[in-house]
Amino acid sequence: MATSSPLTVLYPGSFDPFHNGHLDVVTQAAELFGNVVVAVMHNPDKPGGLIALADRVDLARRCTEHVSGVRVEAFPGLAVQAASVAGADFIVKGLRTPADFDVEQQMAHTNHSVTGVRTVYLPCRSDQAFISSRFIREIAQYGGRIDHMVPAPVVATLAGIFGKPSGGSEGSS
Ligand code: PNS
Repeated sequence: MATSSPLTVLYPGSFDPFHNGHLDVVTQAAELFGNVVVAVMHNPDKPGGLIALADRVDLARRCTEHVSGVRVEAFPGLAVQAASVAGADFIVKGLRTPADFDVEQQMAHTNHSVTGVRTVYLPCRSDQAFISSRFIREIAQYGGRIDHMVPAPVVATLAGIFGKPSGGSEGSS
């Protein structure tokens, strides 16, 4: 439940594709703070993305439409610039593992040094700590099962991209 005066938080990511761990962070953030801007962005460390930016935005919108207080937009440039444009009080990131913390802590300090924006971490659900967009892309490419890791619209989109029935089967029949 949000506090009496709702805050606006920015949840930036590449969301390639949006998965159940992302949905959990969005849901937690909406409950805790009120308004969540899901910022679909470019990650310079991941230049060869799978899904086009406009389609990532569309997918994230469809996956979060049942969560009130959420809007999804594409942003160019820096996360700190997106936070400013979105009128965000702070940035939210989800943490799965200590490795995530190492990366996110450096980004949080760097972002704070640039504009003063703060970052708040939300712990992912323990049963979702293994989910990653990278492995979802890899498994979907070979027709493996991903429907326990992503919302239904993502299953359909990846099946369309790879021409495989990624979902309930292992693709062996
Ligand atoms: O889902 P990801 O790929 O882990 O998200 C990474 C993302 C998009 C949040 C990060 O690459 C990012 O903030 N990109 C925008 C560019 C930026 O602000 N760079 C400076 C980081 S300190």
